[in-house]
Amino acid sequence: MYESKTKRWSLLFFVLGISIMMSSGCNTSEAPFLLNTVYVRAKKNEGLGELNAAQQKNLADTLNAIFGTPDTPELPQIAGVDFPGLVDLEKLRVAAGPVGRNESGRELGLYRKHCVHCHGITGDGAGPTASFLNPYPRDYRRGTFKFKSTKGTDRPTHEDLSRILVQGIPGTAMPSFRILDEGELDSLVHYVRYLGIRGELERRLIETAADELEDEELFLDLDQPGSGIFQERVSLIKEELAAIVDSWTETQVTEVPPPPVDWGSDASIATGKKWFFSSTTNCSKCHGDTALGDGQTNDYDEWTKDWTLKVNVNPLEDLEKIREYERLGALHPRNARPRNLRQGIYRGGRRPIDLYWRIKQGIAGTPMPAASSQLSDDDIWHVIDYVMTLPYDALSKPQNVPENQREIR
Ligand code: HEC
Ligand code: HEC
Repeated sequence: MYESKTKRWSLLFFVLGISIMMSSGCNTSEAPFLLNTVYVRAKKNEGLGELNAAQQKNLADTLNAIFGTPDTPELPQIAGVDFPGLVDLEKLRVAAGPVGRNESGRELGLYRKHCVHCHGITGDGAGPTASFLNPYPRDYRRGTFKFKSTKGTDRPTHEDLSRILVQGIPGTAMPSFRILDEGELDSLVHYVRYLGIRGELERRLIETAADELEDEELFLDLDQPGSGIFQERVSLIKEELAAIVDSWTETQVTEVPPPPVDWGSDASIATGKKWFFSSTTNCSKCHGDTALGDGQTNDYDEWTKDWTLKVNVNPLEDLEKIREYERLGALHPRNARPRNLRQGIYRGGRRPIDLYWRIKQGIAGTPMPAASSQLSDDDIWHVIDYVMTLPYDALSKPQNVPENQREIR
Protein backbone atom coordinates (compact mmCIF):
# COMPACT_ATOMS: atom_id res chain seq x y z
CA MET A 1 0.00 0.00 0.00
CA TYR A 2 2.84 2.33 0.92
CA GLU A 3 4.53 1.40 -2.31
CA SER A 4 1.51 2.39 -4.39
CA LYS A 5 1.36 5.78 -2.65
CA THR A 6 5.03 6.21 -3.46
CA LYS A 7 4.36 5.38 -7.09
CA ARG A 8 1.57 7.97 -7.16
CA TRP A 9 3.97 10.65 -5.96
CA SER A 10 6.57 9.67 -8.54
CA LEU A 11 4.08 9.50 -11.35
CA LEU A 12 2.67 12.84 -10.48
CA PHE A 13 5.99 14.58 -10.38
CA PHE A 14 6.88 12.90 -13.63
CA VAL A 15 3.73 14.19 -15.29
CA LEU A 16 4.50 17.65 -14.03
CA GLY A 17 8.03 17.65 -15.32
CA ILE A 18 9.85 16.70 -12.14
CA SER A 19 11.24 13.26 -12.58
CA ILE A 20 12.36 11.49 -9.47
CA MET A 21 13.24 7.95 -8.61
CA MET A 22 11.70 6.74 -5.44
CA SER A 23 11.96 3.02 -5.93
CA SER A 24 13.74 2.38 -2.68
CA GLY A 25 13.15 5.76 -1.15
CA CYS A 26 10.28 5.39 1.21
CA ASN A 27 10.65 2.24 3.20
CA THR A 28 9.15 2.90 6.62
CA SER A 29 12.01 1.15 8.44
CA GLU A 30 14.53 3.70 7.15
CA ALA A 31 15.78 6.67 9.16
CA PRO A 32 13.49 9.62 8.39
CA PHE A 33 14.29 13.28 7.92
CA LEU A 34 12.57 15.27 10.66
CA LEU A 35 10.20 18.07 9.74
CA ASN A 36 11.26 21.52 10.94
CA THR A 37 8.46 21.69 13.50
CA VAL A 38 10.17 24.54 15.37
CA TYR A 39 9.75 26.67 12.27
CA VAL A 40 6.17 25.47 11.81
CA ARG A 41 5.39 26.62 15.36
CA ALA A 42 7.27 29.91 14.92
CA LYS A 43 5.19 30.68 11.81
CA LYS A 44 1.99 29.93 13.73
CA ASN A 45 3.07 32.16 16.61
CA GLU A 46 4.01 34.84 14.11
CA GLY A 47 0.34 35.00 13.20
CA LEU A 48 0.30 32.78 10.11
CA GLY A 49 -1.78 29.60 10.07
CA GLU A 50 -1.29 26.53 12.21
CA LEU A 51 -0.51 23.43 10.17
CA ASN A 52 -2.34 20.32 11.38
CA ALA A 53 -0.79 16.84 11.49
CA ALA A 54 -2.02 15.88 7.99
CA GLN A 55 -0.68 19.11 6.50
CA GLN A 56 2.69 18.59 8.17
CA LYS A 57 2.84 14.99 6.93
CA ASN A 58 2.00 16.16 3.43
CA LEU A 59 4.90 18.64 3.54
CA ALA A 60 7.26 15.91 4.77
CA ASP A 61 6.07 13.61 1.94
CA THR A 62 6.59 16.39 -0.58
CA LEU A 63 10.17 16.89 0.59
CA ASN A 64 10.83 13.14 0.54
CA ALA A 65 9.50 12.97 -3.00
CA ILE A 66 11.95 15.66 -4.02
CA PHE A 67 15.05 14.75 -2.00
CA GLY A 68 14.63 11.09 -1.03
CA THR A 69 15.53 9.94 2.45
CA PRO A 70 18.66 9.89 4.64
CA ASP A 71 19.27 6.29 3.51
CA THR A 72 18.57 6.89 -0.15
CA PRO A 73 19.01 10.55 -1.09
CA GLU A 74 17.71 11.62 -4.47
CA LEU A 75 18.12 14.68 -6.60
CA PRO A 76 15.11 16.09 -8.32
CA GLN A 77 15.54 16.35 -12.06
CA ILE A 78 13.57 19.46 -12.68
CA ALA A 79 13.64 21.18 -16.03
CA GLY A 80 15.70 24.31 -15.62
CA VAL A 81 17.17 23.37 -12.23
CA ASP A 82 20.45 21.59 -11.98
CA PHE A 83 23.06 21.47 -9.28
CA PRO A 84 26.23 22.34 -11.16
CA GLY A 85 29.07 21.04 -9.04
CA LEU A 86 26.98 21.55 -5.91
CA VAL A 87 25.37 18.22 -5.26
CA ASP A 88 26.42 15.06 -7.00
CA LEU A 89 24.28 11.99 -6.42
CA GLU A 90 27.22 9.57 -6.45
CA LYS A 91 28.98 11.60 -3.78
CA LEU A 92 25.81 11.92 -1.71
CA ARG A 93 25.49 8.17 -1.68
CA VAL A 94 28.96 7.83 -0.11
CA ALA A 95 28.14 10.29 2.65
CA ALA A 96 24.54 9.21 3.23
CA GLY A 97 22.99 6.01 4.50
CA PRO A 98 23.92 3.64 7.29
CA VAL A 99 27.56 3.14 8.22
CA GLY A 100 29.10 0.31 6.16
CA ARG A 101 31.27 -0.55 3.17
CA ASN A 102 30.55 -1.23 -0.47
CA GLU A 103 31.85 -4.28 -2.38
CA SER A 104 35.20 -2.64 -3.07
CA GLY A 105 35.70 -1.85 0.61
CA ARG A 106 34.91 1.86 0.38
CA GLU A 107 33.39 3.28 3.54
CA LEU A 108 29.80 4.46 3.26
CA GLY A 109 27.56 6.35 5.69
CA LEU A 110 30.26 8.92 6.48
CA TYR A 111 27.79 11.54 7.70
CA ARG A 112 26.22 9.15 10.14
CA LYS A 113 29.59 7.91 11.31
CA HIS A 114 31.27 11.28 11.78
CA CYS A 115 28.72 14.08 11.98
CA VAL A 116 25.25 12.98 12.94
CA HIS A 117 25.66 12.91 16.71
CA CYS A 118 26.33 16.64 16.63
CA HIS A 119 24.63 17.92 13.47
CA GLY A 120 21.57 15.62 13.51
CA ILE A 121 20.23 13.38 10.74
CA THR A 122 18.38 16.33 9.13
CA GLY A 123 21.28 18.75 9.52
CA ASP A 124 19.33 20.68 12.13
CA GLY A 125 22.36 21.01 14.40
CA ALA A 126 20.48 19.20 17.13
CA GLY A 127 21.99 15.72 17.29
CA PRO A 128 22.12 13.91 20.65
CA THR A 129 25.41 15.58 21.65
CA ALA A 130 24.35 19.09 20.65
CA SER A 131 22.76 20.29 23.88
CA PHE A 132 26.06 19.72 25.74
CA LEU A 133 28.02 21.97 23.40
CA ASN A 134 28.66 25.69 23.32
CA PRO A 135 28.51 26.94 20.65
CA TYR A 136 25.92 24.54 19.32
CA PRO A 137 26.67 22.62 16.10
CA ARG A 138 25.59 24.33 12.91
CA ASP A 139 22.00 23.98 11.75
CA TYR A 140 22.53 23.88 7.97
CA ARG A 141 18.89 24.53 7.11
CA ARG A 142 19.11 28.32 6.98
CA GLY A 143 21.96 28.16 4.46
CA THR A 144 23.86 30.47 6.83
CA PHE A 145 27.50 29.66 7.51
CA LYS A 146 29.95 31.66 9.59
CA PHE A 147 33.51 31.14 8.42
CA LYS A 148 33.77 31.79 4.72
CA SER A 149 35.39 33.92 2.08
CA THR A 150 32.14 35.28 0.66
CA LYS A 151 30.20 38.45 1.33
CA GLY A 152 27.48 38.90 3.95
CA THR A 153 25.03 36.03 3.99
CA ASP A 154 26.31 34.68 0.66
CA ARG A 155 26.75 30.92 0.74
CA PRO A 156 30.22 29.53 1.38
CA THR A 157 32.37 28.24 -1.48
CA HIS A 158 33.45 24.63 -1.86
CA GLU A 159 36.91 25.59 -0.54
CA ASP A 160 35.38 27.28 2.53
CA LEU A 161 33.49 24.14 3.51
CA SER A 162 36.46 21.88 2.76
CA ARG A 163 38.71 24.08 4.85
CA ILE A 164 36.29 23.80 7.80
CA LEU A 165 36.30 20.02 7.52
CA VAL A 166 40.08 19.80 7.29
CA GLN A 167 40.83 22.28 10.06
CA GLY A 168 37.79 21.94 12.27
CA ILE A 169 36.75 25.02 14.24
CA PRO A 170 39.35 25.68 16.96
CA GLY A 171 37.89 26.55 20.35
CA THR A 172 34.64 24.67 19.59
CA ALA A 173 33.60 21.02 19.53
CA MET A 174 33.84 20.88 15.73
CA PRO A 175 36.74 18.48 15.11
CA SER A 176 39.19 18.33 12.24
CA PHE A 177 38.55 15.55 9.72
CA ARG A 178 42.00 15.79 8.20
CA ILE A 179 42.43 12.01 8.36
CA LEU A 180 39.65 11.38 5.82
CA ASP A 181 40.75 11.14 2.21
CA GLU A 182 39.97 13.82 -0.31
CA GLY A 183 37.10 11.90 -1.90
CA GLU A 184 35.48 11.38 1.48
CA LEU A 185 35.79 15.04 2.42
CA ASP A 186 34.36 15.99 -0.94
CA SER A 187 31.34 13.72 -0.41
CA LEU A 188 30.71 15.28 2.98
CA VAL A 189 30.82 18.79 1.54
CA HIS A 190 28.26 17.74 -1.07
CA TYR A 191 26.12 16.23 1.64
CA VAL A 192 26.24 19.38 3.79
CA ARG A 193 25.06 21.40 0.79
CA TYR A 194 22.34 18.85 0.05
CA LEU A 195 21.02 19.13 3.61
CA GLY A 196 21.30 22.91 3.44
CA ILE A 197 19.40 23.20 0.16
CA ARG A 198 16.77 20.74 1.37
CA GLY A 199 16.40 22.59 4.66
CA GLU A 200 16.03 25.94 2.95
CA LEU A 201 13.38 24.67 0.57
CA GLU A 202 11.58 23.19 3.56
CA ARG A 203 11.57 26.57 5.32
CA ARG A 204 10.14 28.28 2.25
CA LEU A 205 7.43 25.64 1.81
CA ILE A 206 6.50 25.91 5.48
CA GLU A 207 6.19 29.69 5.12
CA THR A 208 3.94 29.35 2.08
CA ALA A 209 1.86 26.59 3.65
CA ALA A 210 1.38 28.51 6.91
CA ASP A 211 0.46 31.60 4.95
CA GLU A 212 -1.85 30.13 2.33
CA LEU A 213 -3.44 26.86 3.41
CA GLU A 214 -7.08 26.74 4.45
CA ASP A 215 -8.11 24.55 7.40
CA GLU A 216 -7.99 21.08 5.85
CA GLU A 217 -6.21 21.94 2.62
CA LEU A 218 -3.02 20.07 1.74
CA PHE A 219 0.01 21.77 0.20
CA LEU A 220 0.05 19.18 -2.61
CA ASP A 221 -3.24 17.32 -2.70
CA LEU A 222 -2.65 14.08 -4.59
CA ASP A 223 -6.37 13.71 -5.15
CA GLN A 224 -6.47 16.96 -7.10
CA PRO A 225 -3.47 16.75 -9.42
CA GLY A 226 -5.24 18.50 -12.27
CA SER A 227 -6.25 21.54 -10.24
CA GLY A 228 -4.82 24.97 -10.91
CA ILE A 229 -3.66 25.33 -7.34
CA PHE A 230 -1.74 22.05 -7.58
CA GLN A 231 0.06 23.24 -10.68
CA GLU A 232 0.80 26.54 -8.98
CA ARG A 233 2.35 24.82 -6.00
CA VAL A 234 4.53 22.64 -8.21
CA SER A 235 5.69 25.76 -10.06
CA LEU A 236 6.41 27.37 -6.74
CA ILE A 237 8.59 24.42 -5.70
CA LYS A 238 10.53 24.73 -8.94
CA GLU A 239 11.01 28.47 -8.56
CA GLU A 240 12.07 28.31 -4.93
CA LEU A 241 14.47 25.47 -5.59
CA ALA A 242 15.99 27.29 -8.55
CA ALA A 243 16.44 30.43 -6.40
CA ILE A 244 18.12 28.44 -3.63
CA VAL A 245 20.45 26.72 -6.08
CA ASP A 246 21.28 30.13 -7.58
CA SER A 247 22.14 31.47 -4.15
CA TRP A 248 24.77 28.72 -3.89
CA THR A 249 26.22 29.28 -7.34
CA GLU A 250 26.17 33.08 -7.36
CA THR A 251 28.38 33.69 -4.37
CA GLN A 252 30.83 36.53 -4.42
CA VAL A 253 34.25 35.89 -2.97
CA THR A 254 35.85 38.88 -1.27
CA GLU A 255 39.25 39.45 -2.80
CA VAL A 256 41.94 40.18 -0.28
CA PRO A 257 44.26 43.06 -1.22
CA PRO A 258 47.88 42.93 -0.02
CA PRO A 259 48.54 44.63 3.33
CA PRO A 260 49.95 48.19 3.32
CA VAL A 261 53.75 48.51 3.24
CA ASP A 262 54.00 49.56 6.90
CA TRP A 263 52.04 46.48 7.99
CA GLY A 264 53.54 44.96 11.13
CA SER A 265 55.10 48.25 12.25
CA ASP A 266 54.34 49.99 15.56
CA ALA A 267 52.60 52.75 13.63
CA SER A 268 50.33 50.23 11.93
CA ILE A 269 49.44 48.61 15.27
CA ALA A 270 48.72 52.03 16.78
CA THR A 271 46.40 52.91 13.90
CA GLY A 272 44.62 49.59 14.37
CA LYS A 273 44.24 50.23 18.09
CA LYS A 274 42.74 53.64 17.41
CA TRP A 275 40.11 52.08 15.16
CA PHE A 276 39.42 49.24 17.61
CA PHE A 277 38.41 51.75 20.30
CA SER A 278 36.60 54.14 17.97
CA SER A 279 32.86 54.64 17.77
CA THR A 280 33.18 54.12 14.02
CA THR A 281 33.87 50.40 14.41
CA ASN A 282 32.50 49.72 17.92
CA CYS A 283 34.88 46.75 18.22
CA SER A 284 35.51 47.51 21.90
CA LYS A 285 31.81 48.00 22.60
CA CYS A 286 31.30 44.28 21.98
CA HIS A 287 34.73 42.77 22.60
CA GLY A 288 35.16 44.93 25.71
CA ASP A 289 37.66 47.62 26.62
CA THR A 290 39.93 44.78 27.70
CA ALA A 291 39.21 42.74 24.49
CA LEU A 292 38.30 39.83 26.76
CA GLY A 293 34.95 39.48 25.03
CA ASP A 294 33.09 41.03 27.95
CA GLY A 295 31.46 44.01 26.25
CA GLN A 296 27.98 43.59 24.84
CA THR A 297 27.13 39.99 25.65
CA ASN A 298 23.33 39.96 25.65
CA ASP A 299 22.69 39.39 21.96
CA TYR A 300 21.69 36.16 20.18
CA ASP A 301 22.53 34.58 16.86
CA GLU A 302 20.13 34.32 13.93
CA TRP A 303 19.44 30.62 14.48
CA THR A 304 17.99 31.49 17.90
CA LYS A 305 16.28 34.66 16.74
CA ASP A 306 14.44 32.55 14.16
CA TRP A 307 12.04 31.44 16.85
CA THR A 308 12.56 33.96 19.63
CA LEU A 309 12.88 37.53 18.48
CA LYS A 310 10.50 37.27 15.54
CA VAL A 311 7.73 35.86 17.71
CA ASN A 312 8.43 38.00 20.77
CA VAL A 313 9.88 35.30 22.97
CA ASN A 314 12.31 36.73 25.49
CA PRO A 315 15.00 34.04 25.77
CA LEU A 316 15.57 34.92 29.43
CA GLU A 317 12.05 35.44 30.69
CA ASP A 318 9.48 33.50 28.69
CA LEU A 319 10.47 30.09 29.98
CA GLU A 320 7.10 28.52 29.26
CA LYS A 321 7.32 29.51 25.61
CA ILE A 322 10.94 28.42 25.43
CA ARG A 323 9.87 25.01 26.72
CA GLU A 324 7.14 24.85 24.08
CA TYR A 325 9.88 25.14 21.43
CA GLU A 326 12.31 22.87 23.25
CA ARG A 327 9.70 20.13 23.21
CA LEU A 328 9.77 20.44 19.42
CA GLY A 329 13.54 20.04 19.33
CA ALA A 330 14.86 23.60 19.71
CA LEU A 331 18.03 23.98 21.75
CA HIS A 332 17.94 26.23 24.79
CA PRO A 333 18.89 29.79 23.77
CA ARG A 334 22.43 30.86 24.59
CA ASN A 335 23.96 34.28 24.12
CA ALA A 336 26.27 34.89 21.20
CA ARG A 337 29.39 35.96 23.08
CA PRO A 338 31.90 38.22 21.36
CA ARG A 339 35.28 36.51 21.10
CA ASN A 340 37.89 36.86 23.80
CA LEU A 341 40.61 38.25 21.53
CA ARG A 342 43.38 37.72 24.07
CA GLN A 343 43.41 33.96 23.66
CA GLY A 344 44.56 34.03 20.07
CA ILE A 345 42.07 31.30 19.16
CA TYR A 346 40.40 32.16 15.88
CA ARG A 347 37.57 29.86 14.96
CA GLY A 348 37.56 30.77 11.30
CA GLY A 349 41.31 30.21 10.96
CA ARG A 350 44.39 32.05 12.22
CA ARG A 351 45.94 33.23 8.96
CA PRO A 352 45.80 37.02 8.49
CA ILE A 353 43.68 36.41 5.38
CA ASP A 354 41.09 34.64 7.58
CA LEU A 355 40.96 37.61 9.97
CA TYR A 356 40.64 39.91 6.99
CA TRP A 357 37.52 38.07 5.83
CA ARG A 358 36.06 37.99 9.37
CA ILE A 359 36.52 41.70 9.94
CA LYS A 360 35.76 42.92 6.44
CA GLN A 361 32.58 40.85 6.09
CA GLY A 362 31.54 40.18 9.64
CA ILE A 363 30.46 36.71 10.74
CA ALA A 364 27.15 35.76 9.13
CA GLY A 365 24.38 34.72 11.48
CA THR A 366 26.06 36.38 14.49
CA PRO A 367 26.13 39.94 15.88
CA MET A 368 29.70 40.44 14.55
CA PRO A 369 29.18 43.14 11.88
CA ALA A 370 31.02 43.79 8.63
CA ALA A 371 33.53 46.64 8.87
CA SER A 372 33.54 46.97 5.09
CA SER A 373 31.62 50.23 5.01
CA GLN A 374 33.50 51.86 7.91
CA LEU A 375 37.11 50.97 7.20
CA SER A 376 39.35 51.18 4.17
CA ASP A 377 41.21 48.01 3.20
CA ASP A 378 44.42 49.39 4.67
CA ASP A 379 42.70 50.20 7.95
CA ILE A 380 41.29 46.68 8.14
CA TRP A 381 44.88 45.44 7.88
CA HIS A 382 45.92 47.82 10.67
CA VAL A 383 43.11 46.50 12.88
CA ILE A 384 44.32 42.95 12.17
CA ASP A 385 47.79 44.06 13.20
CA TYR A 386 46.41 45.27 16.53
CA VAL A 387 44.19 42.21 17.09
CA MET A 388 47.16 39.91 16.45
CA THR A 389 49.22 41.63 19.16
CA LEU A 390 46.54 41.18 21.84
CA PRO A 391 47.47 37.60 22.86
CA TYR A 392 51.04 38.82 23.54
CA ASP A 393 49.97 41.85 25.58
CA ALA A 394 50.79 41.97 29.32
CA LEU A 395 47.09 41.80 30.20
CA SER A 396 46.84 38.48 28.35
CA LYS A 397 49.19 36.70 30.74
CA PRO A 398 47.16 34.27 32.83
CA GLN A 399 47.98 35.95 36.13
CA ASN A 400 46.73 39.29 34.82
CA VAL A 401 43.42 38.07 33.45
CA PRO A 402 40.61 38.74 35.94
CA GLU A 403 39.54 35.53 37.70
CA ASN A 404 36.06 35.47 36.16
CA GLN A 405 37.47 35.74 32.65
CA ARG A 406 39.89 32.83 32.72
CA GLU A 407 37.51 30.21 31.47
CA ILE A 408 37.68 29.40 27.76
CA ARG A 409 34.42 30.06 26.00
C1 HEC B 1 31.51 16.92 18.34
C2 HEC B 1 30.54 17.68 17.59
C3 HEC B 1 30.71 17.87 16.11
C4 HEC B 1 30.97 16.91 15.15
C5 HEC B 1 31.21 15.43 15.36
C6 HEC B 1 30.92 17.59 13.89
N1 HEC B 1 30.68 18.92 14.07
FE1 HEC B 1 30.51 20.32 12.61
N2 HEC B 1 30.26 21.76 14.01
C7 HEC B 1 30.20 21.54 15.37
C8 HEC B 1 30.04 22.80 16.05
C9 HEC B 1 29.93 22.99 17.56
C10 HEC B 1 29.97 23.79 15.05
C11 HEC B 1 29.71 25.27 15.23
C12 HEC B 1 30.95 26.08 15.61
C13 HEC B 1 30.69 27.55 15.65
O1 HEC B 1 29.56 27.99 15.46
O2 HEC B 1 31.66 28.29 15.86
C14 HEC B 1 30.11 23.09 13.79
C15 HEC B 1 30.07 23.72 12.55
C16 HEC B 1 30.13 23.07 11.34
C17 HEC B 1 30.01 23.70 10.05
C18 HEC B 1 29.76 25.17 9.81
C19 HEC B 1 30.97 26.00 9.49
C20 HEC B 1 30.61 27.45 9.26
O3 HEC B 1 31.39 28.13 8.60
O4 HEC B 1 29.56 27.91 9.68
C21 HEC B 1 30.07 22.72 9.10
C22 HEC B 1 29.97 22.88 7.60
C23 HEC B 1 30.25 21.47 9.80
N3 HEC B 1 30.29 21.71 11.15
C24 HEC B 1 30.32 20.25 9.17
C25 HEC B 1 30.54 19.06 9.85
C26 HEC B 1 30.67 17.78 9.19
C27 HEC B 1 30.50 17.55 7.72
C28 HEC B 1 30.91 16.87 10.17
C29 HEC B 1 31.21 15.40 10.00
C30 HEC B 1 32.26 15.06 9.06
C31 HEC B 1 30.91 17.58 11.44
N4 HEC B 1 30.69 18.89 11.20
C32 HEC B 1 31.10 16.97 12.67
C33 HEC B 1 30.30 20.33 16.02
C34 HEC B 1 30.55 19.13 15.41
C1 HEC C 1 27.93 43.94 17.78
C2 HEC C 1 29.03 43.28 18.42
C3 HEC C 1 30.38 43.17 17.73
C4 HEC C 1 31.13 44.17 17.16
C5 HEC C 1 30.77 45.65 17.00
C6 HEC C 1 32.35 43.54 16.75
N1 HEC C 1 32.35 42.22 17.04
FE1 HEC C 1 33.83 40.89 16.64
N2 HEC C 1 32.64 39.39 17.28
C7 HEC C 1 31.40 39.53 17.84
C8 HEC C 1 30.85 38.22 18.11
C9 HEC C 1 29.48 37.93 18.73
C10 HEC C 1 31.81 37.28 17.69
C11 HEC C 1 31.70 35.77 17.75
C12 HEC C 1 30.92 35.25 16.56
C13 HEC C 1 30.87 33.74 16.48
O1 HEC C 1 31.90 33.13 16.11
O2 HEC C 1 29.84 33.18 16.79
C14 HEC C 1 32.94 38.06 17.19
C15 HEC C 1 34.11 37.49 16.69
C16 HEC C 1 35.23 38.22 16.35
C17 HEC C 1 36.53 37.65 15.99
C18 HEC C 1 36.87 36.18 15.97
C19 HEC C 1 37.06 35.58 14.59
C20 HEC C 1 37.38 34.12 14.67
O3 HEC C 1 37.74 33.55 13.64
O4 HEC C 1 37.28 33.52 15.74
C21 HEC C 1 37.37 38.69 15.73
C22 HEC C 1 38.83 38.62 15.33
C23 HEC C 1 36.62 39.90 15.89
N3 HEC C 1 35.32 39.58 16.27
C24 HEC C 1 37.13 41.17 15.72
C25 HEC C 1 36.36 42.31 15.72
C26 HEC C 1 36.85 43.60 15.32
C27 HEC C 1 38.27 43.93 14.92
C28 HEC C 1 35.78 44.47 15.39
C29 HEC C 1 35.73 45.90 14.98
C30 HEC C 1 36.16 46.22 13.63
C31 HEC C 1 34.63 43.70 15.87
N4 HEC C 1 35.03 42.41 16.05
C32 HEC C 1 33.39 44.24 16.11
C33 HEC C 1 30.74 40.72 18.09
C34 HEC C 1 31.15 41.94 17.63
